[in-house]
Amino acid sequence: MANKFLEISKVGIEFPTANGPFTALKDVDFSINEGEFVSIIGHSGCGKSTVLNIIAGLYQATYGGVILEGKEVNAPGPDRAVVFQSHALMPWLTVYDNVALGVEKVFKGQKTKAEMKSWVEHNLALVKMDHAMRKMPHEISGGMKQRVGIARCLAMQPKVMLMDEPFGALDALTRANLQDSVMEIQKELNTTVVLITHDVDEAVLMSDKIVMMSNGPAAKVGELLEVDLPRPRERVALSKNEQFNYYRQQVLSFLYEKKGVVDFNSAKQQSDKQLKAKQQDSNNDGDETIADKAS
Ligand SMILES: Nc1ncnc2c1ncn2[C@@H]1O[C@H](COP(=O)(O)OP(=O)(O)O)[C@@H](O)[C@H]1O
Ligand SMILES: [Mg+2]
Repeated sequence: MANKFLEISKVGIEFPTANGPFTALKDVDFSINEGEFVSIIGHSGCGKSTVLNIIAGLYQATYGGVILEGKEVNAPGPDRAVVFQSHALMPWLTVYDNVALGVEKVFKGQKTKAEMKSWVEHNLALVKMDHAMRKMPHEISGGMKQRVGIARCLAMQPKVMLMDEPFGALDALTRANLQDSVMEIQKELNTTVVLITHDVDEAVLMSDKIVMMSNGPAAKVGELLEVDLPRPRERVALSKNEQFNYYRQQVLSFLYEKKGVVDFNSAKQQSDKQLKAKQQDSNNDGDETIADKAS
């Protein structure tokens, strides 16, 4: 069998806490093909960012691992660039210099100064920010900052672009514009993208595949959905498309109807806990009555 491009193989993670280890992820298992656009969706706190941070090499999996082109990756590297929700630009550098910083790090010794300059300009043009190269981060809008963050990521020519709710902080119109730009660029460059989102429409609009995560603790992949819609995708036309609405409904149903079923283990833990508490309550009943009277 051919190797998958990016494999997330039986990943589990335990975080040390004051009350002992907390199992955030358990047996998270899926793979991504080269050039594929994959979204990871799930309720807040289920472990989406943790999965992304493990792929980025920023967190170490306690069990399992991440394999990129047949090699295990467990440290950060320029082959996996991350775009965060907040742009994280250096406030003292111009738009141009923010992108140049990454380019110099990755291409030092490979590209000449002139080549690096035109590469930075090319990537700023891709995100439609070449007109504002000399501006400082405080002089541009949130959407523009996010575009610069994406340019910085693209300019490092990563094998995988990891995006953690990159449009989350933007108003609806800016978000739509930026989603369209990212889809255009992804199609042009055939970049492999992993996008974290909690927005159902965004996931269906942008993805080839949607990874739906169950609620934590011990979150895992609940369902996988292949989105077979032609590209380029146009949001207004798709809103009337039966297939689009079917996919949308599948994701909504997973998030709002099935989560209890998928989340069987933690539901059991919860009910065990409640049962225990009930038993404890009935043992303490007499004491409580006395305490109540005293107060
Ligand atoms: N460094 C950490 N230490 C302890 N717990 C963490 C850490 N990072 C995340 N968690 C816990 O793991 C769970 C998943 O978090 P996260 O991946 O940020 O969720 P999401 O991105 O889906 O909202 C949460 O319960 C969170 O509190
Ligand atoms: Mg998150």
